[in-house]
Amino acid sequence: KKIIGAIVVLIPIVFLAACGTSGGILGAGENELKLAHNQSLDHPVHKSLAEFGRLVEEKSDGEISVNIYANGQLGSEREAIELTQTGAVDLAKVSASALESFESDYSIFSVPYVFEDYQQFEEAMSNKEVTDRLYLQTEEIGFRALTYYNAGERNLYTKNREVKDVSDMNGLKVRVQPSQTSVGMIEAFGGVPTSMAYGEVYTALQAGVIDAAENNETALVNNNHGEVAKYYMYTEHQIVPDMLIMNSARFDRFSDEEQEIIMEAAEESTIYHEDVWEQTIKENTEIAKNEMNVQFVEVDKDSFIDSVQEMHKEFAESEKTGEIYDLLKGAIE
Ligand code: GCU
Repeated sequence: KKIIGAIVVLIPIVFLAACGTSGGILGAGENELKLAHNQSLDHPVHKSLAEFGRLVEEKSDGEISVNIYANGQLGSEREAIELTQTGAVDLAKVSASALESFESDYSIFSVPYVFEDYQQFEEAMSNKEVTDRLYLQTEEIGFRALTYYNAGERNLYTKNREVKDVSDMNGLKVRVQPSQTSVGMIEAFGGVPTSMAYGEVYTALQAGVIDAAENNETALVNNNHGEVAKYYMYTEHQIVPDMLIMNSARFDRFSDEEQEIIMEAAEESTIYHEDVWEQTIKENTEIAKNEMNVQFVEVDKDSFIDSVQEMHKEFAESEKTGEIYDLLKGAIE
């Protein structure tokens, strides 16, 4: 009787433990992947992630599905990276800048003016040596990158100060991403950086905790920052991609064929994203101008570039970042 009793108790425990290997905090099945990100449902990056999910499902004949948790409902980008590391979520979309404190190679994207233009950025991101290094470097800390999404050029925007050249940055309180390199950039410009999660920026601007932030045009419209920030300056200081990352152990549990499906879907969603992005930036610029009264300002870009030359020297010479700096520069020369 005792033995039978023990078996009856053990069966559900063993069963639950087996379910637990799917690693999900949300109790999803083994082939249902959970993806976390911090953008709204109408953001172009969300649309491309949805396309990624659709492609995975289609290519796997419905065997694998992707469930998206948008709007930062599972936390900030930092938290999303940590959840991906532990396997509590399977996938996350986060800015390369947010990855910098996990892997120093990613800091390269936050070095201001490391790319002269978007074409150079594309050249670097289509260089396999660059992407292999970036994507796989984090395997030992629990995740890999599958692909990137264009997140445009980052520009400065202020509540009420028009900035024409770098000298106008003096004392300006600017929100940056949780990235030491971005902190260094605003200091080099002469401003006062404050790093905070993206979800806090609107309120911080409104309350006057910060005078400014910097981002692509979707921040004005998709995140409503254009309601409080009335000047958008084309400083074009960074081109920081969004990265799709995946828990390494989860990826490795898939068969070769399934891994290929996931990789293909990721790459195709990046291509899909290019058009969605371009279209949205055009639309958002018009909406910000005409409906939100945001003024778009051309700046003396050279004055900004001059102010960060020392940073370039530091990155090129540092033991931590010298290699990736050279690799990236080599890819665009
Ligand atoms: C971009 C990026 C986001 C990021 C945000 C930020 O919008 O796409 O992933 O969170 O910048 O400034 O934090």
